[in-house]
Amino acid sequence: MSIKNRKVGIMDTTLRDGHQSLLATRMRTEDMLPIAEKMDQMGFYSLEVWGGATFDTSMRFLNENPWERLRTLRKAFKNTKLQMLLRGQNLVGYKHYADDVVEAFIAESAKNGIDIFRIFDALNDIRNVKKSIEEVKKHGKHAQVAISYTTGAAYTLKYYTDIGKKVKEMGADSICIKDMAGIMTPYFAYDLVSALKDKVGLPVQMHTHYTSGMGGMMYLKAIEAGADVIDCANSALALGTSQPATETMVAILNDAGADTGIDLDEVSTLADYFKELRAKYKKYDVYCEAVDVNVLRYQIPGGMLSNFITQLKEQDAADKLPEVLKEVPRVRTDLGEPPLVTPSSQIVGSQAVLNVLAGERYKMVTNEVKAYLKGQYGKPAGKIDEAFRKSIIGDEKVITGRPADFIKPEMEAAKKEIGDLAKNQEELLMYIMFPAVAKDFLEGKIVCEDLNVCEEPKKEEPKTSPAQAEASETDSQQIPVSKETGNNIVINFNANVANLNVNVVDGNNLDLTFSDRSEKRFVPVGTTRPQPVQKRIFPTSGAVSSSAVSAEDGVTTSLPGKITKVFRKVGNVISKGEVMFIVESMKMENEVTAKKDGTITKINVSEGDAVKSGDILAVIE
Ligand code: CO
Repeated sequence: MSIKNRKVGIMDTTLRDGHQSLLATRMRTEDMLPIAEKMDQMGFYSLEVWGGATFDTSMRFLNENPWERLRTLRKAFKNTKLQMLLRGQNLVGYKHYADDVVEAFIAESAKNGIDIFRIFDALNDIRNVKKSIEEVKKHGKHAQVAISYTTGAAYTLKYYTDIGKKVKEMGADSICIKDMAGIMTPYFAYDLVSALKDKVGLPVQMHTHYTSGMGGMMYLKAIEAGADVIDCANSALALGTSQPATETMVAILNDAGADTGIDLDEVSTLADYFKELRAKYKKYDVYCEAVDVNVLRYQIPGGMLSNFITQLKEQDAADKLPEVLKEVPRVRTDLGEPPLVTPSSQIVGSQAVLNVLAGERYKMVTNEVKAYLKGQYGKPAGKIDEAFRKSIIGDEKVITGRPADFIKPEMEAAKKEIGDLAKNQEELLMYIMFPAVAKDFLEGKIVCEDLNVCEEPKKEEPKTSPAQAEASETDSQQIPVSKETGNNIVINFNANVANLNVNVVDGNNLDLTFSDRSEKRFVPVGTTRPQPVQKRIFPTSGAVSSSAVSAEDGVTTSLPGKITKVFRKVGNVISKGEVMFIVESMKMENEVTAKKDGTITKINVSEGDAVKSGDILAVIE
């Protein structure tokens, strides 16, 4: 089919999704600026530079103020429209916020330079994008609604065109088809875009990830059907789990006589810069395969897959991956077939991991799954079996209205909480979305990661540690345990070591066996970070477990992950239901609460520690 003289815009994602997909969202503003002027001259339809995971990551790992980044980029890009990814009522966080937070966030984003807001909801529940559309229009900006693409009985062409019609009525200026897993086949894309053009009539932008190898072909069929803009990344940060390459698409489209507004020779001069940059960030490079066949088979987004691998390895359960991959679609079906995208991918993913690790489905259930089944995330397209729902949440109330209608205004309360530490609206929003990280950031406690050093500085070891052992990749070591000082030893082991076996040889020695993890990947998306040095405390008295603690006294985590917050100290009096720890797992923050009233007699973990499901974090007596 001829696309001669057709206008096809290219959005360049290199400064947001490109490095979010391939370099764990670690690209720094200082590395964007040297190339900005050149990129600004290329004739891109728009540049995606902000939102998604960049807000969290810039604070958490780079000690960068995300608002400052936006202002800086706005100044640097004088000709090109700037675009951001906004998770509807979740904004750039992982849960729903009150309407007053949405108002303030969009106002600040518009003021600081965003032209096009790409708004989506993980469940495609349009009630969750309504407020964002209204606010974006209020500030005179472009509201693009992204519909997440997934497969399942509920997802017919009519399903997508019905959403298109409704968001058009709500004021959307354009529609994006968000194929976050990279599983949309070219011929389906043709049918879908044709239907949207026919039934809705808004401009259509296509977003995909190259993971399955179909992205470029899918774009072509979508363009033939009338798609107006495609998302591409610079070749140096394209393909794999990132977008199709800009240069390739420009070459094809220009040759066919379409009007991309971009010169192939010109745009080809950008790659040298980004190639060098990618090498600079090699510590975070995900080194993905050219084609990930698991995505084709299981339709699981690439980022989710690498999260699984990391999480299972941390639990010494890497061999469970095939089981988890089979469990994901089952959990997804139980939850009404939601698309797998932030945060639903984490909700489904962590529950699937739990189901496999616990050896019994739904023996342990995450707080998010409970909230999801109570309707707090919205309504999925598929059906949820009521008996299943009841087996998880009992007789608790299920919300049927717009979830945000049940959330009280949050701005004033947060202001009181943080006090003078947040000097303005921007800082207050940082705090509302990422309380712990923003507090550390505003207090100046965050140190930007070192790109050259593989091991992060860790907190001091507990003074009581009687013996320490630096473990290497050696096969077996015997570590003496000093008799005088208690019965715990602290073992530091390296990231490329998995499967630690501890055997008590005699009263004084432990036999440690390691096997090589030969980990080549780093985790994308700044949350389930690789833990270069992990530290666990093992009692040496007999078996390596906390079997001495009775089930009622021990505070355990159901979810494997990382301790990000310890709220209480030994000696504190605590009552049932109080939050004691936050465990972060697959991007989700989970509260661990006290199961009874009492006094804390022991805390076994500190912030930054990796924990397994069932680990005893503290003891209350
Ligand atoms: Co994406």
